[in-house]
Amino acid sequence: MFKQISFTLNNGNKIIAPSSMGIGSVYFKMEMQSTPENYNETLKSNLVELFEKAKGTVHIDCAANYNVYPEFSDALKINTQKTFKKREDLWITDKFDSVLGTFPDPKTHVLTVLKQLDLQYLDLFLIHYPFVGSKKISLSIAEIWAEMEQLLKDGKVRNIGVSNFSVTDLEKLNETAIIKPVINQIEWSPYYLNQSPGIYDYCQENKILIEAYSPLSPLSMKDAGEDDSEEGKKFISYIDFLAAKYSISDSEILLRYAIQSNVLPITTSSKMERILNNHNFTNDRPDLNLDDCEIAKITTLGKQHKQISKYEKFAAFFQTLIEK
Ligand SMILES: NC(=O)c1ccc[n+]([C@@H]2O[C@H](COP(=O)([O-])OP(=O)(O)OC[C@H]3O[C@@H](n4cnc5c(N)ncnc54)[C@H](OP(=O)(O)O)[C@@H]3O)[C@@H](O)[C@H]2O)c1
Repeated sequence: MFKQISFTLNNGNKIIAPSSMGIGSVYFKMEMQSTPENYNETLKSNLVELFEKAKGTVHIDCAANYNVYPEFSDALKINTQKTFKKREDLWITDKFDSVLGTFPDPKTHVLTVLKQLDLQYLDLFLIHYPFVGSKKISLSIAEIWAEMEQLLKDGKVRNIGVSNFSVTDLEKLNETAIIKPVINQIEWSPYYLNQSPGIYDYCQENKILIEAYSPLSPLSMKDAGEDDSEEGKKFISYIDFLAAKYSISDSEILLRYAIQSNVLPITTSSKMERILNNHNFTNDRPDLNLDDCEIAKITTLGKQHKQISKYEKFAAFFQTLIEK
């Protein structure tokens, strides 16, 4: 029996969880633009295989600065030719880059990308980070948001939200926004439960769904040999214990932990087997839930580990591009 989990957004729309494939991180290009030389054949073929083999709705997380539109566009063309997934069986998120200036404004962004991907609308459009003031873009966050509200009214995007916003950033946005963000996509894992002070509670109280990027950090760090701390070993051994108890994988335990914490995990892999497993993770055990004590113990052990943040490094990089 296949049952996909969904969250209801504050506008009543539904979004499925977890993401099937983030096409940033393991796929994104360091180069500032896509060229025929840096075309990523693996990304295209993984997307095609996902469209072909994944059941239900496929959820893709994209962004302007991943520089992967050519591969995404080619994969969508093959999907259409082979009639794997209908448009309503795809959830496509994209993010406006307010610093690097891939596109000068949200309207140009969305119209260009819809044309390139041969789509009529995006499911979700986010402001990638709260930073503005680089040489490339002269818009304020309030102006960017107002354009996004218009794109929503025009039917070019179906939901709008933000990413990497703190409580202060959200409150400032609220001063001018007519439409509330439905989502705040932030880094979140048991090793990093508050990207900025109070952000988890604020989003829960204000019905802004948290999407968690890097929800598998404890596992990817362990696999990369980047964590030999005692706290890390204790944490992983508890996740191993739960995985054995429920006969599911370690990653499924962390994805379930996120979902039971009312957080939508945005995950990815370079490996097709993991992508399909993460996508299908409710497949055989749709009603399996960790119990409250297990959730609490993952939180406690995660808090004992030193905080792990990829965000702090990349926020510092973006700050260097902002004019003082
Ligand atoms: N909004 C933002 O600012 C922002 C920032 C970063 C990322 N994102 C989005 O979030 C997505 C996910 O980010 P992320 O890559 O940091 O998150 P992640 O899913 O926590 O980490 C992916 C890593 O986990 C490993 N992995 C995947 N499945 C696994 C499994 N079953 N067991 C063990 N390890 C597993 C993968 O390794 P293998 O490849 O070896 O499987 C990969 O290195 C990105 O692609 C992007 O779309 C957004």
